[in-house]
Amino acid sequence: MKLDESMAAVVTGAASGLGEATARMLAAQGAKVAILDMNAERGGEVAREIGGVFCRADVTDEASIDAALGQARAAHGIERILVNCAGIAPGKRTVTKKRDTGELIAHDVASFRRAVEINLIGTYAMISKCAAAMAGLDPVTPDGGRGVIVNTASVAAQDGQIGQAAYSASKGGVLGLTLPVARDLSGFGIRVMTIMPGLFHTPLFEGIAEDYRKALEANVPFPSRLGRPEEYATLVKAIIENDMLNGEAIRLDGALRMQPK
Ligand SMILES: NC(=O)c1ccc[n+]([C@@H]2O[C@H](COP(=O)([O-])OP(=O)(O)OC[C@H]3O[C@@H](n4cnc5c(N)ncnc54)[C@H](O)[C@@H]3O)[C@@H](O)[C@H]2O)c1
Repeated sequence: MKLDESMAAVVTGAASGLGEATARMLAAQGAKVAILDMNAERGGEVAREIGGVFCRADVTDEASIDAALGQARAAHGIERILVNCAGIAPGKRTVTKKRDTGELIAHDVASFRRAVEINLIGTYAMISKCAAAMAGLDPVTPDGGRGVIVNTASVAAQDGQIGQAAYSASKGGVLGLTLPVARDLSGFGIRVMTIMPGLFHTPLFEGIAEDYRKALEANVPFPSRLGRPEEYATLVKAIIENDMLNGEAIRLDGALRMQPK
């Protein structure tokens, strides 16, 4: 699908990191970009800078998604592009031992559920709601293509580390839904792809110590560094423009395979 100024795009999690880089890339290509995020301050700033709109949304709350999509469509028309970047990366072991007392504590169900609600169910809610609207649009490619959806899983969907049970389960769900949703939407000319990033330099990494960052980078075979958010955005662009990419998940990780810890 050709990216141009007639395209409306919705990017979740675009107030920061990978989503922000994607929103900037899409705007630079001329697309009309709606930023859906919980962070109104930063999301509003990014929207102003790229000439897009900010629509406050919590992807775990259907009413808030509906309101945000209504606002985005009123400004730009129905989206042909959805990029799901909203997510959280919690870390907690299944069983932890308290240092002082030796007490054994089970992973709380609430934080596991929260990761799945945001990363997996939030992604699916966005997919189904956007796809239903895209399906009513006129086709714009010679094959009858109407739209493209890109999701963000993680390499943790395949090689989750110690403490990543909730995160890996949520991202494994995103990986798992990619093919069946692409099949569901094939009759409407909507493609569905997932990117599994390795280690990317986003605000997630801002707080970490220099030597820890270097150790992480040393584990990436080539190039031995954190990925740049723009490199994620470049892959989103390639996916949008290449009509044969569908129903697949792509690792974007410099050949990194995560070790247990
Ligand atoms: N940075 C990495 O190395 C890396 C690696 C693998 C996967 N990922 C995934 O990529 C995605 C983006 O990560 P990032 O590094 O850019 O993170 P980030 O924290 O910089 O950005 C995430 C954005 O999602 C928004 N968000 C969180 N919960 C939300 C909710 N309920 N509703 C709406 N918005 C919400 C946040 O406000 C934030 O703006 C995440 O899904 C993350 O799991 C990141």
